[in-house]
Amino acid sequence: MEKKWWKEAVGYQIYPRSFKDSNNDGIGDLNGIREKLPYLKELGIDFIWINPVYESPNVDNGYDISNYQEVLSEFGTMADFDCLLDEAHQVGLKVIMDLVINHTSDQHEWFVEARKSKENPYRDYYIWHDSVNGEPPSDWVAIFGGSVWEFDEETNQYYFHAFAKEQPDLNWENESLKQDVFRMISWWLDKGIDGFRIDAISHIKKDAFHLPIDAKNVAARYQNISGIGEYLKELKQTFDRYDIMTVGEASGVSAEEAEEWAGDDGYFDMIFEFEHIGLWKKEEEQVPIRSFKQALSRWQYALDGKGWNALYMENHDVPRSVSVFGSDNEEYRVISAKGLAMMYLFLQGTPFIYQGQEIGMTNMKFASINEIDALDSKHIYQDMLAQGIDEQTALETISRTTRDNARTPMQWTDSEYGGFSETQPWLTVNPNTKEINVESQLQDPQSVLHFYRQLIQLRKENETLIYGGFTELISDHEQIYAYLRTTKEEQFFILVNLSDQSADYQLPSSISEKGKAWELIISNYDQPQEPLTGVGRLAPFEARTYRVQVK
Ligand code: NOJ
Repeated sequence: MEKKWWKEAVGYQIYPRSFKDSNNDGIGDLNGIREKLPYLKELGIDFIWINPVYESPNVDNGYDISNYQEVLSEFGTMADFDCLLDEAHQVGLKVIMDLVINHTSDQHEWFVEARKSKENPYRDYYIWHDSVNGEPPSDWVAIFGGSVWEFDEETNQYYFHAFAKEQPDLNWENESLKQDVFRMISWWLDKGIDGFRIDAISHIKKDAFHLPIDAKNVAARYQNISGIGEYLKELKQTFDRYDIMTVGEASGVSAEEAEEWAGDDGYFDMIFEFEHIGLWKKEEEQVPIRSFKQALSRWQYALDGKGWNALYMENHDVPRSVSVFGSDNEEYRVISAKGLAMMYLFLQGTPFIYQGQEIGMTNMKFASINEIDALDSKHIYQDMLAQGIDEQTALETISRTTRDNARTPMQWTDSEYGGFSETQPWLTVNPNTKEINVESQLQDPQSVLHFYRQLIQLRKENETLIYGGFTELISDHEQIYAYLRTTKEEQFFILVNLSDQSADYQLPSSISEKGKAWELIISNYDQPQEPLTGVGRLAPFEARTYRVQVK
């Protein structure tokens, strides 16, 4: 397997609005990130991915870009960015930026021009359509709700938007649009950044407009549509001129297509797949463990020896992993945060840690809908009320499911605003910052934070955990995820109980063979461990990693 820096790296995702506020206006900023570089370095991080910091009217918190080559003043200046890049490089951290090229803001100069007239040179940078029999061109539904079509009075046509109406989709069939996008990408890469996370990239091609909506999957008509590869290959040509890493956000891409997207010659170095994370259904309390294991293993096998995975359990769009996949009850909060960490950090791929995940931050109990910022959650709340659901029930559902759970400010200390800011932040700080914060965990060797550090360290010291092959064991088990990472010289065996009940296991004879001296190298329970034999029991969320030399 070809060695690459990004295969050996551990990434950390920064949602800048909520990471660290350096000027006490309640909004995190670039200088806040600069302050925390030493913290990230100590954690063992190799690169950071920063969510959009470009000029934006903030309808979708920066994912509606009005100028790709300027920094939004709330976050600082381009000079601050240059300092951040420089300082990060000095301490050995690479910097990955968010690339949003499926859509712009409706305030972007291209769109402002485009909507002036049908003849405007920028008109075709976006997707326009006449009404059909006095109706929108199709019944397709946008990801954030409502029609994908927005009527433009001035020019008497509809434009297409996969997300909010203030985020018109770019027309990838237009040659000059593509050239302008590629120029912008090169401008950033010439600055010396180390790669991109590419937003919503599976949406850049749309199906034929007359087709009816697919009721089971509203995005199906504009997600991973056949022929998208042509655009992605062109995009890759721009990337290939630099030694960078690329990770595509690829909803709707299945494991069968993994190689095409993230194989050795794929469109991207790796992609964020949605299968494991998508198993969490908003209506259900529990994630089905068997399907969760299957999804992860499917992607592991699909790319083992053929490409590379991006590994993640959280990001700014989903609730906190401890609350969803583990348990945020006092009894198991710490144990399950550690168990989940081990479960995914030792898979084959590049792990991404989302800010706060390393201290086991949990979901928030939002006390009122006014505490919610995310526009999709506000829409869903209004829809629920319109369906006759009472306010309390609607709020509870939103509170459990909103992506704002991931966006509450980073919990640095136990102070009123969590050490994030000195003033009331843009989004409420989770009151459990009193118990869950960086400062206290730095002093506690048993903390989730220390456990993350140890896992990262182990990964760095053992190439087998990076390049070793993947084999799942006891795949039918209802609670335990068990897998091997193997090279010619050694094997690692990772055994994790994903449930809050104890779990009995029986291992295949290849594991328990006599004379195989498995050495326990890390576990999330404190008590002394029995030697590994063919049968045994794991406590709730117990996780262990063993190693053996291959003779
Ligand atoms: C995916 C991003 O992660 C999400 O936050 C955003 O709302 C959409 N893409 C639209 O850009």
